[in-house]
Amino acid sequence: MSTTTAKEVILTGDRPTGPLHLGHYVGSLRQRVELQNRYEQFIIIADAQALTDNASNPEKIRQNILEVTLDYLAIGIDPKITTIFIQSLVPELAELTMYYLNLVSVARLQLNPTVKDEIKQRQFGGGVPAGFFCYPVSQAADITAFKANFIPVGADQIPVIEQSAEIVRNFNRTYNCTVLVEPKALLSNFSRLPGTDGKGKMSKSSGNAIYLCDNADTIKNKVKSMYTDPTHLKVSDPGRIEGNAVFIYLDAFDDDKKALSELKEHYQRGGLADTTVKNRLTDVLIHKLSPIATQRKEYAKDLAQIMAILKKGTEEAKEVAAKTLCEVKNAMQINYFSHPIKIDPTFNS
Ligand code: TRP
Repeated sequence: MSTTTAKEVILTGDRPTGPLHLGHYVGSLRQRVELQNRYEQFIIIADAQALTDNASNPEKIRQNILEVTLDYLAIGIDPKITTIFIQSLVPELAELTMYYLNLVSVARLQLNPTVKDEIKQRQFGGGVPAGFFCYPVSQAADITAFKANFIPVGADQIPVIEQSAEIVRNFNRTYNCTVLVEPKALLSNFSRLPGTDGKGKMSKSSGNAIYLCDNADTIKNKVKSMYTDPTHLKVSDPGRIEGNAVFIYLDAFDDDKKALSELKEHYQRGGLADTTVKNRLTDVLIHKLSPIATQRKEYAKDLAQIMAILKKGTEEAKEVAAKTLCEVKNAMQINYFSHPIKIDPTFNS
């Protein structure tokens, strides 16, 4: 972490609920590898946020902290220039959340379309956990603690970033200060990758994901079972590429754009079998993912090194967050011992 150059700050991260998949890769991970050279980048492993809908399963979160870190390192996140840290080990974030909760109304949280959707998807049987309902506030704490300027997100997360910006404006107005920095969403040009079933977004819970750590055989089988154009029955039939998951993946991963556009034309014209296109996709994915798998195996050999990376990143993050928390408390005039309360002769009289 450099303190001499005033680079703009990026905060990004993931809930450690499973290994990362192609949806994460396209929507955010590969962008982070480039961003780390131009910005001061922090990556939060949001275990506390993951617990908001996994309270009864901390073991799952614990295990996935490691998986996610391995994924980061394997794709080329460089821990020397990117600070990777664990959310719950920076309790300053929880404290900031506490104060921000007073700056947002329950009605406003209820209106957040991202939260609404996510609540619907999760079908909480015993009611929505309050922690889950309030996670945009905790995310505002994560973002503002690092005075992040930009948050790389998919389109579906924009309302959460807007909510953070609102909290920042409200804080600075309420306490008449300029302590907090308004974050902006940095939209990835490829924000939604459909699942292999071609239906919703790729996600672990829908069972339609290809993982960064999948081996060649698994990739091959998953691609084989992929949804294409349901009206493309015979090889000679003209096929549709719009909404066709195989082509959407090729668009995202195939670097040979010229060959791809010829492939698309051929498919649309008719005479191109789904299996031919799928074989192409399998090759492209294996070519992209096998160096990542190799790197991952290499890093996995030395778990002590991984833990050391996380520990160092978390210490650095804690230092930054503690500084912001102190500024926040000063602005709110609740740093009672460093700014002692004085006797007010007119008080209560
Ligand atoms: N909400 C993000 C996810 O679902 C994780 C996250 C927590 C995050 N805090 C953040 C992302 C702050 C960006 C900035 O994966």
